[in-house]
Amino acid sequence: MIYLNGKFIPLEEAYIPVLDRGFIFGDGVYEVIPAYSRKPFRLEEHLNRLQHSLDGIRLKNPFSNAEWKNLLEQLIAKNNGEDQYIYLHITRGVAKRDHAFPVNVPPTVFIMSNPLLPPPVELLASGASAITAIDNRWIRCDVKAISLLPNVLLRQLAVDVHALETILIRDGFLTEGAASNIFIVSNNVLLAPPKSHLMLPGITYDVVLELAAANGIPHEIRQISEHEIRKADEILLTSSTKEIMPITLLDNQAVGSGRPGELFARLHTLYQDYKATHMRGRSCGCDN
Ligand code: PDD
Repeated sequence: MIYLNGKFIPLEEAYIPVLDRGFIFGDGVYEVIPAYSRKPFRLEEHLNRLQHSLDGIRLKNPFSNAEWKNLLEQLIAKNNGEDQYIYLHITRGVAKRDHAFPVNVPPTVFIMSNPLLPPPVELLASGASAITAIDNRWIRCDVKAISLLPNVLLRQLAVDVHALETILIRDGFLTEGAASNIFIVSNNVLLAPPKSHLMLPGITYDVVLELAAANGIPHEIRQISEHEIRKADEILLTSSTKEIMPITLLDNQAVGSGRPGELFARLHTLYQDYKATHMRGRSCGCDN
């Protein structure tokens, strides 16, 4: 079952008009929210980021946080799987094709939920491969916009060579992955690029930095040069669907020892513990 414009209906029955501005212009924003044991993870943070994206494209939020929470809980209840990932998508609605914003047009709201599988154990044990590419996206990458063509093309470069992800470099510095955030480990220090308009402020990125701070893991938030990426001891990828993954091959060169590193192992365990705490009942704090 999916949610479309006020109704819960089967996916096969869900259609939108061709003049939807999401279809015509990619004029909309989205969120991907994992739910563990049927509880949305870090919901308040995801809804705050959604608000930031909506503000970024000047679209009014159709719901309060309490309404979002209620809708998502209903959708999770109607779908299979204890662990699911919710994809929610808001566009500027259906209107005659014109770049300018339409007046008095209701937004299109679409939400679906699919089973969320943990990353394959073999991949966590061996590590994944990545390639690098020049980040040629726009300069509002902090907005989670549905117009993902540059990300699609960049990610496909990785898929073409059987790699997991494309790591993006802009003006000589790391930004993020085509669909993930990237950290490196250098001399036992976890390094994260600073949030800016050039990357998506990842919810998993925040969790990893909070876990590092709470557990005495040395970490720094600063610009990371391409040279530093290439001589990193470890490279870590994070996203809501992939959690934390080790990257052990970059552009066909081994990263560090070529095996998942110690800091990955530590953060991965801390992340699983943190998820377990969430499942035992952390309130999302968004009842208003
Ligand atoms: N993408 N950067 C980009 C460009 C992303 O698309 C994503 C996630 C992230 C990680 O953010 P988070 O930790 O909040 O998932 C960073 C989602 C999963 C997607 O588009 O499917």
